[in-house]
Amino acid sequence: MAIDVILGLQWGDEGKGKIVDYLARQYDIVARFQGGPNAGHTLKFDGNKFVLHTIPSGIFRPDQINLIGNGVVIDPITLSKEIKLLEDAGVDYQERLFVARKAHLILPTHRYLDAASESAKGKAKIGSTLKGIGPTYMDKTGRNGLRVGDIELSNFDELYEALKNKHLDLLKIYPPIDFNLEEEEAQWKACLGTLRKMIKVDGEYYINEQLKAGKKILAEGAQGSMLDIDFGTYPYVTSSNTVTSGVCNGLGVAPHQIGEVIGITKAYCTRVGSGPFPTELDNEDGEFLRKEGAEFGATTGRPRRCGWIDIPQLQYTIMLNGVTQLVVTKIDVLNQFSNVQAGVAYEYNGQLSNQLPYDMNYTKIKPSYQSFPGWKCNLDDVVEYDFLPAEAKYFLEFIEDKLEVPITMVSTGPERKKLIKKTASVINA
Ligand code: GDP
Ligand code: IMO
Ligand code: MG
Repeated sequence: MAIDVILGLQWGDEGKGKIVDYLARQYDIVARFQGGPNAGHTLKFDGNKFVLHTIPSGIFRPDQINLIGNGVVIDPITLSKEIKLLEDAGVDYQERLFVARKAHLILPTHRYLDAASESAKGKAKIGSTLKGIGPTYMDKTGRNGLRVGDIELSNFDELYEALKNKHLDLLKIYPPIDFNLEEEEAQWKACLGTLRKMIKVDGEYYINEQLKAGKKILAEGAQGSMLDIDFGTYPYVTSSNTVTSGVCNGLGVAPHQIGEVIGITKAYCTRVGSGPFPTELDNEDGEFLRKEGAEFGATTGRPRRCGWIDIPQLQYTIMLNGVTQLVVTKIDVLNQFSNVQAGVAYEYNGQLSNQLPYDMNYTKIKPSYQSFPGWKCNLDDVVEYDFLPAEAKYFLEFIEDKLEVPITMVSTGPERKKLIKKTASVINA
């Protein structure tokens, strides 16, 4: 059995949580493979709204196992808060939520380093969520990190103290920032209790055994492909591999085990934090998208930057990910436009191109746009693709045609049920 993947094709917040939640019931296991509490995945169903940061978005389906994979970085404080949220909602999670022993831990001092590094950068700041993601992955690759499995070691306290003190020394190279280590350390240590109680697995063995046993697995990505550490708009990226290859490292599966790659894109585009965004609309249309799409960060509450969908950008991330199916979300946000647009090519260095330049930060890119008539109506009652307005179908089919990947689903609202199947997809939702 193969492992299917859901990931974001833009700069994050494409609606991954909603789609994972919807599709989860077709799988036995949902597994997060990278990122950490920088993610905010929103789920809406039966009048409830949940935002998940660390826990996979299959947790509200009663029969699914959810694995936090080794590629994820975990802040015990955030995790404990999320678990409390599940408990308050009466979700029976204890036997269904597993964590990989090799997942790395975010310490309070990782967050301080994140904050100090960002404030020292001044105007050049990344716009990090300040959850300690960068410093934790730095410690992982620097071979200094602490992992979930380490909390069972008899010398864990010593290991913690050593890493914390290293961080406190490092903090001295930055202009001072405010923090209350004593209080946060006590809270962090108390929250380790949550991890102690959780089912811990050697994730790579677990996943491969389950695959062998014929179980269906869905890998859930965080962030978006344009925030990938290698292929994103560096340095304005996150610190993990958000693309399909991240599944192999983040769960311990071989490349040939990857099955369907379901790429999610909004019908327009957003970005939160600093960095290049060629089709950004710094005008009333952008403002309208932000308002209509409720484009405010699920983790930080920051307003998201908004713009038109960007075809060369999507062609790039589809290439990197080997996308086999597309899901277009938030088409309803465009309902009121007389004309909707799509960036179709880039002009830079005096030439027209479909490729992203090496350096998007310093290269002045002028996108060229194609305009499409809007549909100017509400899509609330549309439950079948054929009944979408002709203009919306024309826009979607243009996207499909340009991206050369079939659109299998179109999302028309935040609620779980607001999802239209376009084709009898390989995923029989
Ligand atoms: P994720 O990080 O990719 O899971 O996405 P977020 O949860 O950060 O952001 C997506 C936002 O759009 C959330 O507020 C969702 O409830 C909402 N959403 C998802 N799909 C749709 C849709 O089709 N239409 C509208 N209007 N909102 C949607
Ligand atoms: P989900 O999973 C949108 C952005 C931050 C910042 C950059 C680096 O909800 O789609 P970091 O905290 O990783 O050091 O921030 O990446 N970023 C996200 N943007 N959605 C996310 O996650 C993001 N996670 C990180 O805003 O620009
Ligand atoms: Mg999000």
